Amino acid sequence: MKSILDHANERIYGVMAVNSINIEMVRAVITAAEEERSPIIVQMGPGQIAKHAHLDEIVPVVRELANKATVPVAYNLDHGSKLEDEIRAIQAGFTNVMIDASSLPLEENIKETSTVVSLAHPMGISVEAELGHVGQAADGDGRTDDMYTDVAQAREFVDRTKVDALAVAIGTAHGNYPKGYVPILDFNRLAELKDELQMPLVLHGGSGSGEENLRKAVAGGINKINVCTDAFHAAKDAMTDLLADDPKADFMALQIAAEAGVKKFVKDYIHIIGSNDQYVYGGAYSDSKEWALQGCDTAVPHPSF
Ligand code: 13P
Repeated sequence: MKSILDHANERIYGVMAVNSINIEMVRAVITAAEEERSPIIVQMGPGQIAKHAHLDEIVPVVRELANKATVPVAYNLDHGSKLEDEIRAIQAGFTNVMIDASSLPLEENIKETSTVVSLAHPMGISVEAELGHVGQAADGDGRTDDMYTDVAQAREFVDRTKVDALAVAIGTAHGNYPKGYVPILDFNRLAELKDELQMPLVLHGGSGSGEENLRKAVAGGINKINVCTDAFHAAKDAMTDLLADDPKADFMALQIAAEAGVKKFVKDYIHIIGSNDQYVYGGAYSDSKEWALQGCDTAVPHPSF
């Protein structure tokens, strides 16, 4: 994931990281990215893995689709918090792991994150961590100012942990906001964080954040945007619409509709955050796993498996 996000950081655009829990979602997300010539990140969290996307079944699916893809695909463990989950993901072939110790005091967050970095980096796997805390929209959007990322702490955190990407709390929250509510983001804080850190920054809670907020966040230095709730809605809405049109629609038709719904949603989102046309690729999948980066002289290693 590091090479994807470093490029996005250098070129000032955002890359979608979509929580994808089955083959239809993984395929929708990757084919959307291919059609938009965009890098993409497939991710799943420990809860999603435990409930549905069992690693022994889903990893071969992601691996197959990522390796066939004509764009770089990274595979991220989202919100890992236990060491055993991190190790399992590293062993399974994820290309990035997130360690979320953001609910812990600073020193403990640094300690846990550093441990994960020490395990992941020697394997060529990058690490995302979170400082400040992105709450749940269901908890009245979960925000208080002291949960926002502090700039001086962020400097210390990155220096001591050596993380590759940092999730920052600037006003978004996970899940569904109350109807009609659009979060107010702290763009001044984002500007200070970017100015200080000069590294890939991550926005969690990419659903319902509003187009204008997303565009401004990307312009202000956000390079990875996590999206789960709205991608799930896109799948569900497509199935609901199909059933309304044709109550006899069978299970396969519903799966096909869900996949198409997610794909359209991802393609549209990619345009908002500007990752479309960031990757050009000069031929069929190459064994050398080298990819041409538009506008760059040097190819970077394929960040997929
Ligand atoms: P949303 O469900 O609000 O899109 O948040 C997703 C997320 O941040 C996953 O880490």
